[in-house]
Amino acid sequence: MPFVLGAQLCVLIVFCYLTSIYGASTASCGCSSLNIPVHVDILIPKDPADPFGGLKSNASSLRHLNATYDVFGVFCQPNTVPPKNAGQFNDVVQLLFHGFTYTQQYWSPPTEEFRNYSYTAFACNRGMSTLAIDWVGVGLSSRPVNASDVQYATSSAVASNLAHRLKTTSILPGVRPFKKIIGIGHSAGSVLLNFGAIFEGARFPFDGLILTAGLIVQPTTMSGIPSMFTSARDDTPLRWGTLDPNYITTSNRSIFYPANTTSFSPRMLIFDTLTKDVGSLASLLQLGSNSLTAHYTGHVAKVVGSEDQALCADGRCADVAALNSVESVLWPEAKSFEVVVAQGSGHDMNLDFFADRPFNTFVDFVEQFTAV
Ligand SMILES: *[C@@H]1O[C@H](CO)[C@@H](O)[C@H](O)[C@H]1NC(C)=O
Ligand SMILES: *[C@@H]1O[C@H](CO)[C@@H](O)[C@H](O)[C@H]1NC(C)=O
Ligand SMILES: *[C@@H]1O[C@H](CO)[C@@H](O)[C@H](O)[C@H]1NC(C)=O
Ligand SMILES: *[C@@H]1O[C@H](CO)[C@@H](O)[C@H](O)[C@H]1NC(C)=O
Ligand SMILES: *[C@@H]1O[C@H](CO)[C@@H](O)[C@H](O)[C@H]1NC(C)=O
Ligand SMILES: *[C@@H]1O[C@H](CO)[C@@H](O)[C@H](O)[C@H]1NC(C)=O
Repeated sequence: MPFVLGAQLCVLIVFCYLTSIYGASTASCGCSSLNIPVHVDILIPKDPADPFGGLKSNASSLRHLNATYDVFGVFCQPNTVPPKNAGQFNDVVQLLFHGFTYTQQYWSPPTEEFRNYSYTAFACNRGMSTLAIDWVGVGLSSRPVNASDVQYATSSAVASNLAHRLKTTSILPGVRPFKKIIGIGHSAGSVLLNFGAIFEGARFPFDGLILTAGLIVQPTTMSGIPSMFTSARDDTPLRWGTLDPNYITTSNRSIFYPANTTSFSPRMLIFDTLTKDVGSLASLLQLGSNSLTAHYTGHVAKVVGSEDQALCADGRCADVAALNSVESVLWPEAKSFEVVVAQGSGHDMNLDFFADRPFNTFVDFVEQFTAV
């Protein structure tokens, strides 16, 4: 029996692994997977349900976490660079953070129905490199036995450590350290980057942040949300039966797509559901940590889909100017700040039929943020 369980698990993992690697590789893009050991020595809340993730805590409500994790990532760089971009992005890398219950594959799902959903390939076509990682606890990265170790303080420390490493050392033979790093997050991945920007302020080692599907979350609105999530070990016992029950997953992913079903492929939703992953309960309960002020001094952009059922259902995305003023208040020292509403897109703006519009927006921001 243990053998059968092991084999099933292996099949699932290999399936996810292969689809992610091949999904990212195109003629113009060379991709390699890698494992990067990352050490964190930090203070995290004793209470994983702390809505601010420890940002407002005193020492007595924090505990020490000293651990080394293997972080899985897919690094892609252009094989050929369009003449107009020659040399422009050689020293630039985009570090990509997926959302809750996703993996790095969010940035390069296999092309389907002749449409392109790979931001990694899109960026490569414009001469830009990417490193998309799995969060600690997720996908092929180390998974702490105790889900309470996976909080925003942990994940943002990993992000910061990785960014420092990309600027100082070579991550692969032949790949030089990078001079500029743009962090791009999706949903909880945006909250992760936002957390680091609050915690480290001007020291946060990213030159710019593109926070997609990451509008301010009020800590008080978090109480109703867990109903669409379920303990991963109950949801898929064969794959996750031995996990701490505080690793959770989605029971239904429709909310991540526009309500209008002509806006996305039903097969994408099926693929997305089949390849879903887990997240720690703490990273769901601490989403509201992005409602605090960040004294970060790099560039910041937020991109949200007008049809985002999770963030725009309250109508706040209709008036872009008003949205911009509400959101910009929390970034008083940013070099630049802008909110873009991507018309027609849903929460998972990379996975619907309008993906190329936000993709163009992301590369435009990368170009602006790295211009000398
Ligand atoms: C620290 O924070 C906890 C929880 O918010 C609170 O109960 C306690 O009084 C605080 N201690 C100090 C010394 O401020
Ligand atoms: C953290 O762990 C490392 C070994 O993994 C050890 O050398 C170091 O002293 C520890 N730091 C603290 C503050 O306990
Ligand atoms: C779609 O992908 C192909 C193969 O990578 C590429 O040649 C093409 O430019 C892409 N189309 C768009 C709109 O990005
Ligand atoms: C996880 O760690 C916390 C803090 O050390 C502890 O209170 C909790 O009991 C642990 N949970 C499990 C399932 O081991
Ligand atoms: C998921 O939720 C949507 C919207 O509420 C519903 O239409 C759909 O049937 C649900 N899917 C499943 C598999 O339960
Ligand atoms: C959904 O989008 C299609 C194409 O844009 C449009 O024709 C249709 O009216 C929309 N349906 C609803 C219910 O809004």
